[in-house]
Amino acid sequence: MLTRRDLARNFSLIAAGIAMGGEAAYAQRRKIKGHNADLVLLNANENPDGPPASAIEAMSKILAKTGRYHDEDNDQFNELLAKSEGLQSDQVLVGCGSSEILHCAVDAFTSPSIPLITSAPAYELPVDMAAAQGHPVIKLPMTPQYGADVHGMVAAADKAKGGLIYVVNPNNPTSSITPKADISWLIENLPANTVALIDEAYIHFAKSSQMASAIPYIKQNKNVVVARTFSKIYGMAGLRVGYGMGRTDLINKMGVFRNNVISLTGVYAAKAAIAEPTLVPERREKFGKVRADLCGWLDSQKIGFIQPHANFMMIDVKRDVRTVIPAMMERGVAVGRPFPPMDHFLRVTIGSDADMARFKQEFAKVMQV
Ligand SMILES: Cc1ncc(COP(=O)(O)O)c(C=O)c1O
Repeated sequence: MLTRRDLARNFSLIAAGIAMGGEAAYAQRRKIKGHNADLVLLNANENPDGPPASAIEAMSKILAKTGRYHDEDNDQFNELLAKSEGLQSDQVLVGCGSSEILHCAVDAFTSPSIPLITSAPAYELPVDMAAAQGHPVIKLPMTPQYGADVHGMVAAADKAKGGLIYVVNPNNPTSSITPKADISWLIENLPANTVALIDEAYIHFAKSSQMASAIPYIKQNKNVVVARTFSKIYGMAGLRVGYGMGRTDLINKMGVFRNNVISLTGVYAAKAAIAEPTLVPERREKFGKVRADLCGWLDSQKIGFIQPHANFMMIDVKRDVRTVIPAMMERGVAVGRPFPPMDHFLRVTIGSDADMARFKQEFAKVMQV
């Protein structure tokens, strides 16, 4: 039987990162070997509510049909998704999670001379994909408000004579946003041979008037690709459904790098979820309340944090986070991995009310507040 201390050791090993390639590396970083059922999972920005009942019902009904390939269902889904975003079906690429879309964009738009340009810190997958191929990576510090430094990114692309500019909005791990005026400036000022990849995995959780999707720029034929996922607000991380949107020529360039199609169950679950008009606003409201409660509690304890806009937040622990992560694990709460260079910040996913009550209880002990 594994003790809490064993779990803590396993977790810190994994959190430190294990040398392996591809999207599998991310699955490995999330993995906690042999964890107990009562472990509170606040480490991977998952949604504890899971798929809506309609999606579960749709999947149950289609299971008997999984003996056959499902090309027509895929085509219909592509069309439906495109319509739901006001786009043509050849402007949408469905992938095995948005991870596959990010991977395709790196393959299509970086090269040994054309860099990936991003923030430090931002979601690491595209950085690792580019680096693994020997393509240059330029990481720029964030602005003092934790937005992407769009001016620095454009200057870097200009200097390199092209690039793939990757902006995560809201950003993972900081949960901060790049204001809509900056996104607009970025897209209006893209140098030649440069594509902006805007990752909107967490956009559904954001309420700020400063937050805006980059999808309208696709309709203006700009060099922009937007990535979205069903893993976060829709609660379907295990189903692996994501999509990218962009001008048809950009989507075609990315499409050749796609591995395969998503499963029939994923298609039916996602179709059922987008057919529910109130699902996203209701979940946004619910997670917004839990998040606001945690912010209020942190304020009352005089613990600093970055103003959050997604289903997770960065808390200033004022010490090396590598000491806090295993201490929380020993107390039965799994929290985020370290995100250098923000070594004094702890990333915590917003879970259920009960999850957060447990988090507060154990975190107060670890912090000795
Ligand atoms: C910013 C961001 N983009 C993309 C992904 C990949 O998600 P998925 O492949 O499940 O769509 C994640 C996962 O946590 C993420 O944080």
